[in-house]
Amino acid sequence: MVDGWRSDAFYEARRDELEKRVGPRRFKHSLGVSETAEKLARVYGADETAARVAGLLHDWDKGYDDPGILARADELGMELDAELAAMPRVLHGLTAAVALGRAFPELPPEVLAAVERHTLGDAGMSDLDMIVYIADALEPGRKGKVVEKLREKIGEIELRELFLEVYAYWVQLIMERRHPIYSKTTEIWDSYMPEQEVYRAEANPDPIPYGRP
Ligand SMILES: [Fe+2]
Ligand SMILES: [Fe+2]
Repeated sequence: MVDGWRSDAFYEARRDELEKRVGPRRFKHSLGVSETAEKLARVYGADETAARVAGLLHDWDKGYDDPGILARADELGMELDAELAAMPRVLHGLTAAVALGRAFPELPPEVLAAVERHTLGDAGMSDLDMIVYIADALEPGRKGKVVEKLREKIGEIELRELFLEVYAYWVQLIMERRHPIYSKTTEIWDSYMPEQEVYRAEANPDPIPYGRP
């Protein structure tokens, strides 16, 4: 029998809580992300349970409206810079990671990191981070030609390559929808480019390897 956060009992209890925290559409999306993340973990050799749990929990705080999520960040004692404070839509990943870590201390840091990074992405994302990020975009409820094409690439291309394709697609979508672009987006993108890898290796004799949690 499996105990703690890996157990079916933990998953089912969080799933039932989530159903009360978000609307039915978001709840269905979360189950889709959980399923897709588990599948991606199987395909790419990552921790399937961690992926399933992180996928389920990634939108834990998505039920708040804009003033609500700002108040939530404040309550959690999070210091937001002016840019993030002006982008309430992306904050739910950050607040969820903090809140879940406090409410369920048994959740490992890698699961919380994947929840935290699912909106903005980051440099040096782990396989699990990338899996949840990709699953958020490609779960069965997401429609469209681009999404379908990307879905077909699961298992056909490397995880990092699939992540970059999904990341590029999201940045484009943000621009098309006339939303603000997070200022660290190019920095994050460049951190995955081989040219920058060489540059960083030269600039820093002890570079941080990619994939570090
Ligand atoms: Fe989200
Ligand atoms: Fe989501």
